[in-house]
Amino acid sequence: MTDTLTIVDNRTGKKYDLPIQDGTIRAVDLRQVKAAPDDFGLMTYDPAFMNTANCRSAITYIDGDKGILLYRGYPIEQLAEESDYLETAYLILFGELPTAQQQQAWAREITNHTMLHENIKKLMEGFQYDAHPMAIFLSTVGAMSGFYPDAKHVFDKPARLRQTHRLIAKVPSIAAWAYRHSIGRPYVYPDNDLSFTGNFLNMLFKMTELKYQANPVLTRALDVLFILHADHEQNCSTTTMRTIGSSQVDPYSAMAGAAAALYGPLHGGANEAVLRMLNEIGSVARVPDFIKRVKSGEAGNRLMGFGHRVYKSYDPRAKVIKRIADIVFTVTGKNPLLEIALELERIALEDEYFVTRKLYPNVDFYSGLIYQAMGFPVEMFPVLFAIPRTAGWIAQWEEMLLDPEQKIARPRQVYIGPVQRPYIPREKRA
Ligand code: CMC
Repeated sequence: MTDTLTIVDNRTGKKYDLPIQDGTIRAVDLRQVKAAPDDFGLMTYDPAFMNTANCRSAITYIDGDKGILLYRGYPIEQLAEESDYLETAYLILFGELPTAQQQQAWAREITNHTMLHENIKKLMEGFQYDAHPMAIFLSTVGAMSGFYPDAKHVFDKPARLRQTHRLIAKVPSIAAWAYRHSIGRPYVYPDNDLSFTGNFLNMLFKMTELKYQANPVLTRALDVLFILHADHEQNCSTTTMRTIGSSQVDPYSAMAGAAAALYGPLHGGANEAVLRMLNEIGSVARVPDFIKRVKSGEAGNRLMGFGHRVYKSYDPRAKVIKRIADIVFTVTGKNPLLEIALELERIALEDEYFVTRKLYPNVDFYSGLIYQAMGFPVEMFPVLFAIPRTAGWIAQWEEMLLDPEQKIARPRQVYIGPVQRPYIPREKRA
């Protein structure tokens, strides 16, 4: 058996042997397939990248049929059990779990970079009180491009590392300040005595007390949610990060675009959409009717938090989240919407429509219920997704930059507009 693909062009009768590597053929190898010498050559047509590998990556592995998710080879379930977000971020960014010394130095760097420039605070104050925190978040990340001119040196390793420290450390501060702004409370400055997630909760919820004590069970639960969201290979926002980054712009500009992609309801905005959907359904009794409306495609209704481009079985992150929900609810009391979610899941998993399309709960189905029980308003949900995804975005951006095969991203198109025609003077137009 040879690792080649033989294709015959029935227009010309010519035969071509294309090498197969890692289960792929190279799309540019098809360019030799021409109907005539001046022909451009064959292209692939793949709207939404349904079957196109855009890169070779060593960061995250997903087997969508088996429900497997690995960061740098480590199963997500084990990381959720044993690791913490900062350590997982290190693993994703640098490829290996840190030694005790590396972990200490890493935590110190992140702690030392949590403060925001006072002018960033002023910029955030310019938003309306009811601005969506995700709009504030993505604009502020983009604005940081103007504060750190050394970020332009994308091929300078120490400069890249500085931006990595800044971004990982500052996104919780931006997120917390966006929240405080929306409820009209003064900003809380970072507290260097606290853990990454403990400090974030402090910046969100501290009032007049000298030291804010976050509930340790909730702090750990949020930290695990951060681990689960840290990377997910070539999804919409990561592809955006790589695409913008391929122009060699600074990482703040690229990440503003990635965060914008995450904001959409089909991506990171889905957890917010799930809560709105559960509220709209309102009671367990109304679940069957809602499922019927989804199946009929009425008004574009979808069962939010269900389905995934890659997972065609239960999302392994959703399994971990369901377990965490039980732990969180012992502290916060049960979220009354849980019963509706469980009934939706029960019916959907038995229903032929969902079974045949392999639609299972994804990471967003239960995460919103936890966030709400912890006291977050729905508008904060996508921001809570963006904080940990920062690790994945930066790792993927750097991998793209250092990959000698990568160039500026520039897909082709199939042109379907008018053929060339002469300009018509205004008085002669019909
Ligand atoms: N509810 C009802 N039907 C669905 C759903 C859903 N949530 N998702 C897919 N379908 C149907 C769809 O209508 C289509 O049916 P048909 O073959 O009859 O036309 C079939 O399943 C295949 O759907 P698709 O749109 O081709 O699948 P996709 O891979 O393009 O979409 C998705 C993936 C995640 C955008 C989609 O499943 C969806 O819209 N889900 C709801 C939004 C959501 O929960 N998003 C979070 C994704 S996980 C977190 C993240 O990565 O951001």
